[in-house]
Amino acid sequence: MSTIEFKSLSKQFGAQAVLQDINLRVEEGELVVLVGPSGCGKTSLLRVLAGLEPASAGQVLINGRDMTDALPSDRGLAMVFQSYALYPHMTVQQNLSFGMRMRGTAPSDLQARLNRAVEVLQLKDLLHRRPGELSGGQCQRVAIGRAIVQEPGAFLLDEPLSNLDAELRLHLRLELIRLHRELRATMVCVTHDQVEAMTMADRIVVLRDGRVEQVGTPQQIYQQPRNRFVAQFLGSPPMNLLACNEVPLPGHQSRNATAAGAVGAQASAVSATHWGLRPEHWRVVDSSLPDSIPMQVLHIERLGGQNCLHGTVGPGQQPLCVQTDALLPAERGQILHLQPQIEQIHLFDAQGQRLQSATSKP
Ligand SMILES: Nc1ncnc2c1ncn2[C@@H]1O[C@H](COP(=O)(O)OP(=O)(O)OP(=O)(O)O)[C@@H](O)[C@H]1O
Ligand SMILES: [Mg+2]
Repeated sequence: MSTIEFKSLSKQFGAQAVLQDINLRVEEGELVVLVGPSGCGKTSLLRVLAGLEPASAGQVLINGRDMTDALPSDRGLAMVFQSYALYPHMTVQQNLSFGMRMRGTAPSDLQARLNRAVEVLQLKDLLHRRPGELSGGQCQRVAIGRAIVQEPGAFLLDEPLSNLDAELRLHLRLELIRLHRELRATMVCVTHDQVEAMTMADRIVVLRDGRVEQVGTPQQIYQQPRNRFVAQFLGSPPMNLLACNEVPLPGHQSRNATAAGAVGAQASAVSATHWGLRPEHWRVVDSSLPDSIPMQVLHIERLGGQNCLHGTVGPGQQPLCVQTDALLPAERGQILHLQPQIEQIHLFDAQGQRLQSATSKP
């Protein structure tokens, strides 16, 4: 399995800088997930890595070798495209085996690899159909199968599960994780799905406007986001962000809550303009409790086991979302008193950078 490294990689389309100074190393057997808003350069990064687009500056190293200008076929990578890119005139079976035939794979080996992919991806009944006779989800499975049979040094997967229904998506997600574990396969995977990113990734790379905002394990990205953008990008519903001058930082004026005092006493709290707290880190409490914040409930999303309560707080009616147990009675229009979990609060300065506080984990 391959290592992959980008060194000061940049990519321009005409005057538009699509990737800027990307420095990233993917270890052998690692599963790295790329996330970021639409148009931030995720597909472009995979295409430059695969050799389908030339880099404008910088290097792509595969197994330590400079492959920046190598042909796609010499890179030992298999890409699953966002658009599947199946051969329309070939059957599923022919699509799966075409690459192996081109490379002169021995027939017995070819059959074994084919059988395995067909089993993993439940393609048995589709083998004699052409792509035009398949649903989007079925095409996606064939595209993944075509990568698996190549037994590449690394898999590049561009939203490989996005067209699947919920059940198959979960099934294939677990299959990809298993495949990754069994083959110790190096994988670079793009997804828009929060749960996919959190559950699949060894490390997550957050991109914005062609730049890397943060690289870290899912826990690091979730618990120690570098800035407001990362904090609000990962997590669903996103982290609440409140302006300190509208909704005072809890504990800042309080004298009796010790944990609150710990946050309030921080030097960093002085330069904080905003504080952030995820929807799961609030308690519904009695109005008499210190630091409780009244929220008017405007909208309730009932998710089964949990509710998402959307409302506003403070004189400026800042939006807030809290997750509560579905058993807790909630009604639109009601005023709920919420107590923030002080130890989970994140502080941000005027530039949006996250500030260290006594309660942040290292
Ligand atoms: N061949 C091309 N020519 C010109 N501009 C392009 C080309 N391919 C992509 N772009 C532009 O580069 C930027 C990054 O595109 P890219 O496809 O990498 O985004 P993405 O992060 O994969 O987005 P999405 O999540 O929507 O798939 C976009 O602004 C896009 O319009
Ligand atoms: Mg894309």
